[in-house]
Amino acid sequence: MYVYVNSGLVRKEDARVSVFDHGFLYGDGIYETMRVYEGVVFMIDEHFARLQRSADLIKLAIVKDANQLKAALYETLAANSLKGAYVRITVSRGYGPIGLDPDLCKEATLVIIAEDMKDYPKSYYEKGIQVIIARTKRNLSEALNPQIKSLNFLNNILAKMEAKEKDAYESLMLNVLGHITEGTISNVFFYRDGVLCTPSTACGILDGITRQVILTLAVREGFTVKEGKFTVEDIAAAQEVFLTNTTMEVMPVNRVDEIRYDVGEVARTLRKAYRNEVRAYVAAIKGRGPSLWGYE
Ligand code: PDD
Repeated sequence: MYVYVNSGLVRKEDARVSVFDHGFLYGDGIYETMRVYEGVVFMIDEHFARLQRSADLIKLAIVKDANQLKAALYETLAANSLKGAYVRITVSRGYGPIGLDPDLCKEATLVIIAEDMKDYPKSYYEKGIQVIIARTKRNLSEALNPQIKSLNFLNNILAKMEAKEKDAYESLMLNVLGHITEGTISNVFFYRDGVLCTPSTACGILDGITRQVILTLAVREGFTVKEGKFTVEDIAAAQEVFLTNTTMEVMPVNRVDEIRYDVGEVARTLRKAYRNEVRAYVAAIKGRGPSLWGYE
């Protein structure tokens, strides 16, 4: 397996960054996770735009421009002969002396990891997964904006630990006002009395790319959609709950704390629509010819 580090590919065993890297010392950096279908990176432009937004929000210069980054990404996929893959681009502040000042680091560190996509068990999609409401609150937007997809994931890790303690797969986090925000690595939707609901960005969430695709597809499928501020009581009264992210796609939830839900028609319909959307996207990109997406 090959990993892209800064300016080229190295073997996994040789892929290293310094102990003085500020990503390691302070969590000073950003990342994106993407999913590759049949050799095509789904929603690559949206992921790159979000990576750039994260970089801008922490005033980090990514060294490579979007085209160079795309070339590096496809080079990594090709080197590992990957068609169905998980890709993570990490950009940290880089190597520098100890101290918080970002100017201590002369150049950002870039790492691209691409691995075979290990799909979630089929039973998760058929039977749903269990989630809890975490005691750990989501970072306040005014403190550490969740729209920065940063390397500083302790907020989410603490919530994930709570889920594990209760044998649940994911935690939903509330904000300090008691509104539902999101999961530790996912966005949440619920269907209540004919309306598909999801927390709005004003609640303090990462505006997931899958979330946006689902919102668009839901409207196309004829659902009434509401982005807003919701409480635990709202979710308790729902008929269906599901999570979304790049790797899970649409993941049904069968339990939130003690409340149980059926895996229903809404999650099934939207999962199917999402899969169709992926297929159409891949076909459109491939239709443009291999040179444009770099690798076949
Ligand atoms: N996580 N919210 C959080 C906190 C996330 O970390 C993620 C993604 C999402 C969903 O975003 P998207 O639909 O763009 O994947 C929401 C990725 C999968 C990760 O951490 O690897």
